[in-house]
Amino acid sequence: MKQLNVGILGLGTVGGGTYTVLKRNASEITRRTGVAINVVQVADRNLANAKALATDADVTDDAFAVVNNPAVDVVVELIGGYTLSRELVLKAIANKKHVVTANKALIALHGNEIFAAAKANNVIVAFEAAVAGGIPIIKALREGLGANRVEWVAGIINGTTNFILTEMREKGLNFADVLGEAQRLGYAEADPTFDVEGIDAAHKLTIMSAIAFGMPMKFEQAYTEGITKLEQVDIKYAEELGYRVKLLGITKRTDNGVELRVHPTLIPEKRLVANVNGAMNAVVVKGDAVGPTLYYGAGAGAEPTASAVVADLMDVARLIDATSAQRVPYLAFQPEQVQDLAI
Ligand code: HSE
Repeated sequence: MKQLNVGILGLGTVGGGTYTVLKRNASEITRRTGVAINVVQVADRNLANAKALATDADVTDDAFAVVNNPAVDVVVELIGGYTLSRELVLKAIANKKHVVTANKALIALHGNEIFAAAKANNVIVAFEAAVAGGIPIIKALREGLGANRVEWVAGIINGTTNFILTEMREKGLNFADVLGEAQRLGYAEADPTFDVEGIDAAHKLTIMSAIAFGMPMKFEQAYTEGITKLEQVDIKYAEELGYRVKLLGITKRTDNGVELRVHPTLIPEKRLVANVNGAMNAVVVKGDAVGPTLYYGAGAGAEPTASAVVADLMDVARLIDATSAQRVPYLAFQPEQVQDLAI
């Protein structure tokens, strides 16, 4: 049977979930792909923890050992950040390894460079887990809705802030109390400022916008506003008026180009999206042929995110013999073709 040898960088929340899901569902995964997916090496700073979990793999604290390991076919990057992770991913690509990543900051900021390198080296770069955790929104935009001219995409794409807003409304708690709980549950970024200031949502919105409209990553064009200025009284008054406050990411075509924005939004309480609570995410995509479509599910957490990472590994297993065009996203339009509008 065909084998796919995986090296995992980072065995934290998502890395641990990925290892567990790969093990638990191994026979299902192999039956569906015809390929045995083996984790051969993992890198983590905490060697003792990594060894306790990854009992069948070689464990190292040197991430470069994994990207340079000739036995590794695909590198799963789960260390986060965008400096060391960029270096590691580019090195893996230069070594002709496929890459799966859950790193939205990396793809939003360096995706254009990474995709160009992947194209030049004829390897796959997959990043389903980077947007909306377990919801297969990248596949939906690229494949399921591939026949459509997308008009707009809007959604709740940060679990931490949605959890905070839900707790503030349901329990009357303060912002600071709830953030600690989101961190304990493993939803928040290492630097929670990224969550609460809307930066994490802007990273994800940038990626969805690029895939939906076929243009390069334009993170710097996104208007970004978080939830830190919201108080109990805002949530309460909104409720009295029949609205819920949600942090939305919105990208759409306008007469002047593509707009990207993240900010708190009042949504009438009867709308489906107004009733997306806790760390759940929801994305609405309006296509010209299909009309509006809604995608809902867990946007953060170990196994929901691992679900998307492993699905990408399964895609790599299926696409190994594919042509170059199938391996990297089709981001052909240049900014002058899909004009940018900073608002
Ligand atoms: N911090 C992110 C969130 C994790 O809360 O949605 C998933 O990307």
